[in-house]
Amino acid sequence: METMKRTKVVDAFDASLYGTRINVKGWVRTRRGNKHINFIALNDGSTIKNIQVVVDLSKFTEAEMKPITTGACISVIGTLVESQGKGQQAEIQAESIELYGGADPDVYPLQKKGHTLEFLREIAHLRPRTNTFGAVFRIRHHLAYAIHKYFNDRGFFYLNTPLITASDCEGAGAMFQVTTLDLNNVPRTDDGAVDYSADFFGKPTSLTVSGQLEGELGAMSLGAIYTFGPTFRAENSNTPRHLAEFWMVEPEVAFNEIEENMDLAEDFLKYLIRYALDHCQDDLEFLSQMYDSELIERLKFVVENDFVRLPYTEGVKILEESGHKFEYPVYWGADLQSEHERFLVEEHFKKPVILTDYPKEIKAFYMKLNDDGKTVRAMDVLFPRIGEIIGGSQREESYEKLLSRIEELHIPMKDMWWYLDTRRFGTAPHSGFGLGFERLVLFVTGMTNIRDVIPFPRTPKNAEF
Ligand code: 4AD
Ligand code: MG
Repeated sequence: METMKRTKVVDAFDASLYGTRINVKGWVRTRRGNKHINFIALNDGSTIKNIQVVVDLSKFTEAEMKPITTGACISVIGTLVESQGKGQQAEIQAESIELYGGADPDVYPLQKKGHTLEFLREIAHLRPRTNTFGAVFRIRHHLAYAIHKYFNDRGFFYLNTPLITASDCEGAGAMFQVTTLDLNNVPRTDDGAVDYSADFFGKPTSLTVSGQLEGELGAMSLGAIYTFGPTFRAENSNTPRHLAEFWMVEPEVAFNEIEENMDLAEDFLKYLIRYALDHCQDDLEFLSQMYDSELIERLKFVVENDFVRLPYTEGVKILEESGHKFEYPVYWGADLQSEHERFLVEEHFKKPVILTDYPKEIKAFYMKLNDDGKTVRAMDVLFPRIGEIIGGSQREESYEKLLSRIEELHIPMKDMWWYLDTRRFGTAPHSGFGLGFERLVLFVTGMTNIRDVIPFPRTPKNAEF
């Protein structure tokens, strides 16, 4: 076949190209027709839209046409014309077709009939070829880009924090250990303990659960930073909202107090959702038609309305007085469950809620203690259908108070000396938060299981692909 510059399908719907010869390449979604004429729906991933390839069978042999089945990859040269058919803006009248690779219809798992999302999870290596996952992963990309754009436009610096760490930021102990020790022959010290001096780093290390502690060092030098990277949690939660490997965005800002932190979180979320509404129209419309007719309305609603800001104590009072029967009991001091968070957001306020000032016992050691001595300047942003989408706080800037909290919780000092140094040398108020990227993608796409918004999900007992 003659060589020609390839046109992406997304660019082929440009009326100024009508009448010209173009070359498109992609995967066959469907092929239908009769003895004389065939229609191939071709998709190359650049857009949810397929381009229709019209094949006059008198110009092609049976042998040429036979392997052109669902899933096959082809290159087509032909003239782009305005389509006569309903719902197609443009089509290509095929002159020549080159087969890159066939897909035996007897074994190719993605036939044109609709598959369940559960089945597609088992073929995560092929599912991006479906409309649904194409849409989800394109939206995921646009949101990732928008995150960098948001911060860059506002003078934040992108700081890369380590993935391998010797400290447990959240103190939850849900960490994946990193070791090069031979687990079948673990070196021991004289008293029988594991001899970590023989390990790669000479001490126990894990995959990070959050880049925050190092992010704070960045804020206390560059002023405003953000991290955006993979995060690992070995919590055994098999829920539609938890992954063992997820991506987190963590801004940290010197001199911001909790109110400014809330303003940043609200503005940031609204910006990202608006960005998706503006840049992912086709994909959002598809997902809304397929799964969730209220999706676009819900996104607009969040962008257009103020979030409710409410202290934890008042939130608990509302829950207690609601008369609603919850699976988990609710009382002052309880760590709120997703059902509680969603009740506040979906039933009571019918708006996103920022819950603040949680009891110190259920929050991490680094949060700033309030004057009441009982609560900390925490803020969780709660979203409809998701529950907690952001968790953040103002940080304890007092060396003495932070040290006493570390001691109270028996956090090993040898892991924390460098963190405490920020409070010894030029300490200042500062705040930040963590946005779970997949929870954002979940909200924006209207999907219901977090396994369906990351290309290759990692969950308990699942590390396939
Ligand atoms: O609330 P978390 O645990 O907060 C932190 O890690 C802080 N160090 C952040 C900070 O202040 N810089 O996690 C932050 C967010 C949650 O609100 C949630 O959206 C997401 O990360 N998240 C998860 N997402 C998917 N799977 C999991 N297992 C998650 N755990 C937390
Ligand atoms: Mg949290």
